[in-house]
Amino acid sequence: MSPLNVVVGITGGIAAYKAVGVVRALVLAGHDVHVVPTEAALRFVGRPTLEAISRNPVHTDLYEGVAEVRHVAIGQAADLIVIAPATASTIAKLATGIADDLLGNTVLASEAPVVIAPAMHTEMWRHPATQANIATLQARGVTVVGPGVGQLTGADSGPGRMEEPETIVAAALGVAAASARRDLAGRRVVVTAGGTREPLDPVRFLGNRSSGKQGVAIAEAARARGAEVTLIAANLEVPEPDGCDIRHVSSVLELQQAVTDAAKGADVVVMAAAVADYRPADVSETKIKKDGGDDGLTLELVRNPDILAGLGHAPHDGTLLVGFAAETEADEQRLLELGRAKREAKGADLLAINRVGWTEGFASDENAVVVIGRSGEIVTRVHGTKMSVAHGILDVVVSETTSAAAAADHPKEVEST
Ligand code: C5P
Repeated sequence: MSPLNVVVGITGGIAAYKAVGVVRALVLAGHDVHVVPTEAALRFVGRPTLEAISRNPVHTDLYEGVAEVRHVAIGQAADLIVIAPATASTIAKLATGIADDLLGNTVLASEAPVVIAPAMHTEMWRHPATQANIATLQARGVTVVGPGVGQLTGADSGPGRMEEPETIVAAALGVAAASARRDLAGRRVVVTAGGTREPLDPVRFLGNRSSGKQGVAIAEAARARGAEVTLIAANLEVPEPDGCDIRHVSSVLELQQAVTDAAKGADVVVMAAAVADYRPADVSETKIKKDGGDDGLTLELVRNPDILAGLGHAPHDGTLLVGFAAETEADEQRLLELGRAKREAKGADLLAINRVGWTEGFASDENAVVVIGRSGEIVTRVHGTKMSVAHGILDVVVSETTSAAAAADHPKEVEST
């Protein structure tokens, strides 16, 4: 990786001493590191240490260096911003865009990816205010590393420990590498995410447990890699990503209409949403009432259209179709066979298979998928955070669409007799 200009923001938590390790690892990896501590951080770790380790001057004061417009210059020059530790207070300030110190100004003046490593006591981490601020930052594309679980400053332990410096540095450099990749620039990508709801009456629906996390991560990752993204959002339980054209849908028929419109002329369609196979034959205009007695209720369901199969079996030259298969099958070989059969039946170009269960898959932050190609071959296996799985799937998308474009530019010569 070529050397990056990295800003390391350090805020006022006891874990600030561990930030020295973050700075050192980045410097040893050959990067140009500029440390921006808050005033509070300097109570935990001294400026001379930070200057010696970073090999650059360290500033905190908004009113120093005004002639060189330092409050924006540092952020504008940054390729990557890492804030470690990030206290609850700094997280709140970042979420609302408060810029009352050099670090706040630096972040606002920058378009570089931001990675934060929260560190605080468990109660502060779990507080709804902190959780809401974290959700806001994540929706804005900020990467949150940790916090880890373990011994905190006092006698207590739990989630709140700052991740180890090497973990933070690895994650931050991974984010920088991904954001430097603009390999989907100029491509139009459509992603469906979430789970459909089929109304029974004005208050009830048949739904599923898909949170939309994986689909949203794919939309965010595609956006970060330069694509123009349309996100068809079906009842998301996660914040909507920035920078995407978002179309809200709820039922399968709404999703079908939205995807069919958006897929026209798209380079890639990723069907990550969990789509109901059946819907109630009749939707009651009024709330369905219990009859007297103990009789059960029988619902009549009708088949929904298979949207992916509809797209897959229609001519779709120039549009790469990526389907998903969420299966409860425990046996690896049988899981792959199900995936292969599904890819073929639906006419998808690629199919990402993941295992789901009562505790696996849906609301989790982690995922593991196997991507099957046109001949039933395993194209890739990726596991990790839903964001890293998203990038793994997009790596395949990029190589498939790039080779298709190259083949179109240089069609195979047909032998004439
Ligand atoms: O058949 P199954 O639901 O396992 O297929 C999953 C894939 O097919 C997903 O990509 C999902 O978005 C898509 N699908 C669809 N229309 C349906 C059911 C599933 O497009 N009615």
